[in-house]
Amino acid sequence: MILIIDFGSQFNQLIARRVRENKVYCRIEPPGIELEQIKALKPEGIILSGGPASIYNPDSPKADPGLFELGIPVLGICYGMQFMVAQLGGKVAQARKREYGFAELRTRSRTTLFKSLPAKSQCWMSHGDSIVELPDGFKVLGFTENTPIAAAADTRKRLFGLQFHPEVEHTTCGKKIISNFLFQVCKCKPSWTMKSFAAEAVDGIRQEVGNKKVILGLSGGVDSSVTALLIHRAIGRKLTCIFVDNGLLRKDEALQLKQRLKQHLQINIRFVSARRKFLSALKGVSDPEKKRKIIGRVFMEVFEAEAKKIKGAEFLAQGTLYPDVIESRSAFGGPSSVIKSHHNVGGLPKRMKLKLLEPLKFLFKDEVRKLGRTLGLDDDLVWRQPFPGPGLAIRIIGRITPPRLSILRQVDAILLDEIRAAGYYRRLWQSFAVLLPIKSVGIMGDSRTYENIVALRAVTSKDAMTADWARLPHKLLARISNRIINEVRGVNRVVYDISSKPPSTIEWE
Ligand code: XMP
Repeated sequence: MILIIDFGSQFNQLIARRVRENKVYCRIEPPGIELEQIKALKPEGIILSGGPASIYNPDSPKADPGLFELGIPVLGICYGMQFMVAQLGGKVAQARKREYGFAELRTRSRTTLFKSLPAKSQCWMSHGDSIVELPDGFKVLGFTENTPIAAAADTRKRLFGLQFHPEVEHTTCGKKIISNFLFQVCKCKPSWTMKSFAAEAVDGIRQEVGNKKVILGLSGGVDSSVTALLIHRAIGRKLTCIFVDNGLLRKDEALQLKQRLKQHLQINIRFVSARRKFLSALKGVSDPEKKRKIIGRVFMEVFEAEAKKIKGAEFLAQGTLYPDVIESRSAFGGPSSVIKSHHNVGGLPKRMKLKLLEPLKFLFKDEVRKLGRTLGLDDDLVWRQPFPGPGLAIRIIGRITPPRLSILRQVDAILLDEIRAAGYYRRLWQSFAVLLPIKSVGIMGDSRTYENIVALRAVTSKDAMTADWARLPHKLLARISNRIINEVRGVNRVVYDISSKPPSTIEWE
């Protein structure tokens, strides 16, 4: 495995992605990790990430310099390189010219780290400080017009530094450099696959849980489904899943999930129908934050009541993913918890005195999808678009009533139907409909209508932090609009949302 020390770069998750794409496992840890912990992890190599700080700022993050003495290869990137150089007796100073963006990298040596690289290639820089003097034993491996020491190494000690970012796409040879570090320098083996991950995770769960019972909240999404499968494989019927039907789901969603998970995979699931409870608590409420709070509270009540029926449970499992874990412990103590408040069971482990079990907490979303496939989950579930916990409640603007839920469900089903048929479902991050609280005039046959308006929203995104509205073909939009107006009673107008995030959000509420 490779240890990545996180100095706060916005790209540190990308470094992890690049390493794992090479079938080598890696972990991202904060700079405060102790030397003993590093030794215990037995990394085959260490990568020091970039970061926004200046090495001479007294508050800048620092790792234990003892890591350079462990005989483990180290690759310092940007701030990581500067940290290494400064620790080992070199000099870093403010660059004459801040360098930001593309630069031409010229390589001096084409062995180990730079094996098979061309003499010139494009790299991507983002730094204010530069290295002006290398520690003893280091040699320059590459330079750019503004940065005489863009890459350097002490090859005897296997310490390498790059002033540019090999992990970003803009560095054309970046992938090659990272795979050289893994295979030429660290001598890693490309053996980490989802199959091996699953085997290890199953062992780990068995050890951690032993004979005890585990409870898991199923949402119908890919993360909780994969978590269920993995734990089920480890401990079988000692896992009980709880699925709460809050009455705010899409058409047939609860039914489909029931069939898939229960019949095909023999998982122990309790289905709790709590439609009435949710709808009566939401009656007359139109403020979006109030809706969320009510739904969160009722969910906790229903879930807890059901969980209490499972005697002797000691663990609560959750499908937390790696980005949440990393973001919630920023190197600078920055926004301390970005973990979304909509992780509905957040307060439960404490209240019910349950221990948390999070077997996906070192995986990224696409790895979870691959794991799902490995565990036998069908494509439909693996590729499901994200669906918010509060469900259709935040897609009905204004008050939620059974007739309005019914209209939105029909509209949404037509939209998804057509999006799937046109082959767009997987290409979109999300696609859904929103029911507006205003009416418009229309004409159907010979008579005037005064009916509802629905908005269609389809976005592309990598992580929901930013999103762009999808340029769906006009023909497809026309077909969706026609079908909705013809087939759904109570709708006489369809509009398409052409705003991006930011400044808009993906959901309307
Ligand atoms: P926004 O609307 O903030 O959404 O751009 C970003 C992503 O988060 C989802 N979302 C939610 N998910 N509970 C959830 O479980 C919520 O309250 C919630 N609000 C937004 C949204 O669907 C998108 O994927």
